[in-house]
Amino acid sequence: MPFTCRQSFLDDVIDGLSRSQKTLPCKYLYDDFGAQLFEQITALQEYYLTRTELALLAQYAQDIVAHLPTQATVIEPGCGSGQKVAYLLDNMPDVNGFIPLEISTEMLLYTQQRLRQRFAHVNIHPLHGDFTHGPTIKALVQQHGLNGSNNVVFFPGSTLGNFSPIHAIEVLHNLRTLCGHNGRVLIGIDLIKATPRLLAAYDDKEGVTAAFNRNLLTRIARELGAHLCLEHFRHEARFNSEQHRVEMHLVANQDTCISVRDQRFTLRAGESIHTENSHKYTLASFSSLIGNAGLTLVDSWCDSQGDFALCLVKSQR
Ligand SMILES: C[S@@+](CC[C@H](N)C(=O)[O-])C[C@H]1O[C@@H](n2cnc3c(N)ncnc32)[C@H](O)[C@@H]1O
Repeated sequence: MPFTCRQSFLDDVIDGLSRSQKTLPCKYLYDDFGAQLFEQITALQEYYLTRTELALLAQYAQDIVAHLPTQATVIEPGCGSGQKVAYLLDNMPDVNGFIPLEISTEMLLYTQQRLRQRFAHVNIHPLHGDFTHGPTIKALVQQHGLNGSNNVVFFPGSTLGNFSPIHAIEVLHNLRTLCGHNGRVLIGIDLIKATPRLLAAYDDKEGVTAAFNRNLLTRIARELGAHLCLEHFRHEARFNSEQHRVEMHLVANQDTCISVRDQRFTLRAGESIHTENSHKYTLASFSSLIGNAGLTLVDSWCDSQGDFALCLVKSQR
């Protein structure tokens, strides 16, 4: 499969480390250990995102479901632990089925087991795949006969924020393909707020986010046989005020190098590898972004502090 293919991983690492601002695609943060670390992050005091979105779902799931097509197939790209979709499924007695799509096999297995126990009446079809990969999305639509149906795509966790606008539009196109003409997409977005709170959410005191970020180097060493010194890198969260995003970097503490196969990449002390973006939105900037992918905002639910929003979206035609 393209997303697990060692060759694609190698190509992406070599391409990313060859750039003047070294970078690595954030999907590689989620090997099985990375996905476990992310679950730990969601429980941290500083990481307000998950508990705020869960509270929104607990409060508004019934109302949200009233806006969704009946007898729908629910698809969750990047389902993680599947904790959030349970709020929707609880209120969808006539649901046609649930398709979790995940890059981490371990999370997929966990979600499947967890939800099969609780929703024995729901047809669950787990799929190991990459939601950024257009052919995977098209194959999913074909294999599950989703063409022309009224599907519900659930994309919580501010996962959309991991993509720069140009790539977010590609992901939104994939979500639009999955939902069909009359379907709906429910997207969780993190809203713009004071910088210290944002930075704390991506650089917690316990160092779990740092471990999550640095695990990418461990993975590169293990899976690609790369030579590098993990101790030469530290985690850093930065706020990019022009792009309205928190960035995660792996910063070299000293001059160092990473050797992958026959290629050697040098880093000067202070130079960084950019590993993740988390874009923050207003409802207006989000509406404008989805408009570029042929989608339009139907409704939204936001907490009283204005921290996070669940946005219901449909195809423009
Ligand atoms: C930010 S977490 C969100 C998890 C969950 N949806 C939630 O809201 O708590 C992103 C999840 O997407 C998965 N993931 C990341 N990139 C992916 C990709 N390109 N294709 C499929 N899954 C991906 C990760 O393994 C992780 O479980």
